[in-house]
Amino acid sequence: MAARIIRKIVPAGRSGAAQYSTGVRKVTLIPGHGIGPEITVAVQKIFEAAKVPIEWDEVDVTAVRGPDGKFGIPQKAIDSVNANKIGLKGPLMTPVGKGYRSLNLALRKEFDLYANVRPCKSLDGIKTLYDNVDVVTIRENTEGEYSGIEHEIVDGVVQSIKLITEEASKRVAEFAFQFAQDNKRKKVTAVHKANIMRMSDGLFLRCCRDLATKYPGVTFEERYLDTVCLNMVQDPSKFDVLVMPNLYGDIMSDMCSGLVGGLGLTPSGNIGKNGALFESVHGTAPDIAGKDMANPTALLLSAIMMLRHLQLNDHADRVQNACYEVLREGKSLTGDLGGTGKCSEYTAAIISKLN
Ligand code: IPM
Ligand code: MG
Repeated sequence: MAARIIRKIVPAGRSGAAQYSTGVRKVTLIPGHGIGPEITVAVQKIFEAAKVPIEWDEVDVTAVRGPDGKFGIPQKAIDSVNANKIGLKGPLMTPVGKGYRSLNLALRKEFDLYANVRPCKSLDGIKTLYDNVDVVTIRENTEGEYSGIEHEIVDGVVQSIKLITEEASKRVAEFAFQFAQDNKRKKVTAVHKANIMRMSDGLFLRCCRDLATKYPGVTFEERYLDTVCLNMVQDPSKFDVLVMPNLYGDIMSDMCSGLVGGLGLTPSGNIGKNGALFESVHGTAPDIAGKDMANPTALLLSAIMMLRHLQLNDHADRVQNACYEVLREGKSLTGDLGGTGKCSEYTAAIISKLN
């Protein structure tokens, strides 16, 4: 389905709101909060220098109170994503344990971006405990433990519902197998706890097994979540593509990101039938916001993933090579990577490597 989705989003030669005859694509840009605006500027500068054929449609996503009294995404941002079908987004501030629901999640739900794809690949120049990590987590992005169905039954007793449906499980499983096939990956591992959550994870697992039969060229295995965590830190080369329900994917993708240097270096894409939103998944880092200290790599690599989604592979390669070279040289790295470079210096270094 991944390939089919891409074709749906970018029909060859089609003209319309999301595409111009010049081939310039309009992309919704959500800079976000905290360090979001400065890392966004870094990506814009690099893309401009690389002459990437993209026109940014910048919108603010700060919670607004709707007519029903609830906080949500501003209509202008919704309209922009609906028109462009593709977006890039920085981190958004999320209230913890109170207030309104995370707008990060609201965006995924609003556009039904059902598959979250996070490739974690070792980078030359970034020393971690592991070499040659190359795994992709594919996370169900619309339901599971993130359904947001919670209530208090009586004082001191609350209930949270993990919702698993056959429809959502099948489509994310299909996405994972198609992704593996399209990207010449060999194996898909379904990550679950069907021994404990026999009905919900049981259904998810059955959907994965069903889809596996349609992709005989891709090896399928099923593993318990805890075992995958154990084996992943022992030897990440045992894994390839992983598919799992929402919360497991949230946790597992952070763990895998840690194997290759952390959230500052890991890209992410939220993909649906009618759109896709690429985002850095680190926080807003308010302590360093506005100080030109932030690392824009995660947002840049997410933007590169977006270019591949738009089939702008040559542009993606060029920007990626420049970024990888700067990381490999290790001269202009930002503080989080042990360097003393400013965000603007790191950005300029990448631009100087574009050829
Ligand atoms: C992620 C983040 C989000 C999540 C937060 C910011 C709501 O951790 O994208 O992984 O929990 O999904
Ligand atoms: Mg997370």
